[in-house]
Amino acid sequence: MIEQIGNTDLIYNKYLSELYNCTISIKAEYQNPGMSSKDRPAISMIRDAEKRGLLKTGDTIVEASSGNTALGLGMIAKELGYHTHFFLSKGSSIEKRQALLLHGASVTICENSTSPNDSESTMACAKDWCLSNPDSFFCNQYYNKANSLAHFEGTGPEIWKQSKGSVTHFVCGVGTGGTISGVGKFLKKKNPMITVIGVDSEGSILYDFFYYGQVSEVTSSVCPIEGIGRKFLPSVLDFGCIDEFFRVSDKQAVNQIYDFIEHDAHLPGFSSGAVLSALNQMSAGLRPNDHVVLLFADHGSRYMSKIYNQEWLIEHKHNQWIIQQTAQTG
Ligand SMILES: Cc1ncc(COP(=O)(O)O)c(C=O)c1O
Repeated sequence: MIEQIGNTDLIYNKYLSELYNCTISIKAEYQNPGMSSKDRPAISMIRDAEKRGLLKTGDTIVEASSGNTALGLGMIAKELGYHTHFFLSKGSSIEKRQALLLHGASVTICENSTSPNDSESTMACAKDWCLSNPDSFFCNQYYNKANSLAHFEGTGPEIWKQSKGSVTHFVCGVGTGGTISGVGKFLKKKNPMITVIGVDSEGSILYDFFYYGQVSEVTSSVCPIEGIGRKFLPSVLDFGCIDEFFRVSDKQAVNQIYDFIEHDAHLPGFSSGAVLSALNQMSAGLRPNDHVVLLFADHGSRYMSKIYNQEWLIEHKHNQWIIQQTAQTG
């Protein structure tokens, strides 16, 4: 399974290309064995820790995750003979939790993933657990350089090669910042004219920090789009390789997803809906020769209990799409 990580397809998208009158491709990260881009940092962080003598057979791999990194680590750990203990926040989808338990992982659900300084956050709980369990290794993806390195050495070169150097814009969601920092750095090295665009979630501080150099008042509201947006600044996130940022609400992401699936066979994950919303917001500035690469970090099947579920849509006031679901299934 480890050999299967990476080398995902770059897929030309006819619907979006015609809609926005330029070339638009999707980097299909849901093709990774764990069905997300996070398999890449997962194997990268494990190999790096092994090399540095921080992880040995029989140890427990620990991580604070919205679920996808944990899933990547969980699958790899099973193959390599490590134990796992993951700290997920309340907001993580039931599908991710379920899959982790099926892989034999221990899972602790925490109040939030707000900040390493909040004692109830996934990061603080993971760190605490490691202190009392000496044969453990905390991957710490927000502060681990092996995270962005996986994208600098893998995802970035793949996009460059697959697009035959034609990529003009790269758009992806930002959580730890590993993807945008690794891919952005690589693409800028190849062609500094490429525009690198980050997508943030409502409730996050990243957008404000990028544009105003300061952190807006930290509110208690959550970042509703799983995997993206943060209330602290991960050291992995390199703002220097980003040209533009968009901040997207859950409503905007859901609207874009339902509009998209009416015309296309993809079933995007939640954060891919945010990427589609950013594309829509930037579309007025696109020219016919542009080639926009959108990174779809995971797959819609991870969110059947959320964005593709009627009760969830009602609870979160996305009522306009309930009719469509009823019409499709009725
Ligand atoms: C679904 C999803 N999209 C986007 C991201 C953000 O990727 P990164 O952490 O590399 O910024 C994540 C991270 O966990 C994710 O799970």
